[in-house]
Amino acid sequence: MKVFVTGGAGYIGSICVEELLNADHLVTVFDNLSEGHRVAVDERAQFIEGCLSDRETILNAVAADQPEAVMHFAAFAQVGESMTDPSKYFRNNVANGINLLDAAVEAGVKKFVFSSTAATYGMPDTTVPITEQEPQKPINPYGESKLMFETMLKWYRELHGLEFVAFRYFNAAGCSEKLGEERRVETHLIPNVLRVALGQAKQCRIFGTDYPTPDGTCIRDYIHIIDLAQAHILALKPGKCGFYNLGNGEGYSVREVIETCRQVSGKPIPAIEEARRDGDPARLIAGSQKAIDELGWKPRYATLEQIVDSAWRWHSAHPNGYSG
Ligand code: UFG
Repeated sequence: MKVFVTGGAGYIGSICVEELLNADHLVTVFDNLSEGHRVAVDERAQFIEGCLSDRETILNAVAADQPEAVMHFAAFAQVGESMTDPSKYFRNNVANGINLLDAAVEAGVKKFVFSSTAATYGMPDTTVPITEQEPQKPINPYGESKLMFETMLKWYRELHGLEFVAFRYFNAAGCSEKLGEERRVETHLIPNVLRVALGQAKQCRIFGTDYPTPDGTCIRDYIHIIDLAQAHILALKPGKCGFYNLGNGEGYSVREVIETCRQVSGKPIPAIEEARRDGDPARLIAGSQKAIDELGWKPRYATLEQIVDSAWRWHSAHPNGYSG
């Protein structure tokens, strides 16, 4: 299929582009490079540097490309920043996204695939894996902006017939052989812990040790980026439509992640214990049975060791990230 990908120079988008191309799809990437990296865009893809805020540009780009599907990864995604600058999140993740939705409708796009997030669930009461039926009560503008986009998708489907698949990612992690995780400001656990293994920081930080979990630290469901990309490819099949969680249904605590990073890298990785970070739920574990049953999704790299191993291979081969 011909697929138009926004945010295809970012961490998740670039690896999805690589997997789309490996599966013989044709890809055009649209990215303003505010967070992404030009060198992360596979050379087999066509690249357009542009911003979703520029309505004419995006309408013209999609009209000229005539894709069968659009995958929308472009967004700001820092929870903490969204609490201090909500305008940035609602403007980019919601308002600018409307330009893309309209462009897709005008160009007669058949399928719209959207990057949503577990942050739309907020602080779920449930300790069992979270299903798609869990009430969505975001607790920050980032999660709210993604939920607002989900709502727009429902209406665009009903009123314009735009079919969509929206994936609620849990903790995307790991790297491909060629492409990795590098952000201008890094807040995520695994890349920050591996930075210590590389000798680029003295110690990693554990945010909160008094959570109601077996070792007192937060539990998250880590999903390998290549498994996540495979779900996007399955979403392109005709007739697939709706909201899907993406995770492995297994939770690992912050301490367990750090320990796995020690084992995989063979480095000691000192850690210091700090206060809780605002807005962190104690436990987020995905129920992804719907994606398995309806999309035929089969995660191939489901263990934390496999995920961390792929991240360590990329980070140790690219200690300076894309600028090296
Ligand atoms: N953490 C640390 N030390 C660090 C970084 C993180 O202890 O240096 C902890 C966090 O407090 C949290 C866990 O590690 O308990 C995971 O934190 P991440 O920042 O890696 O990921 P989050 O679970 O906070 O957020 C991720 C995505 C969000 C998305 C969310 C949905 O980054 O975009 O999952 O579950 F909204």
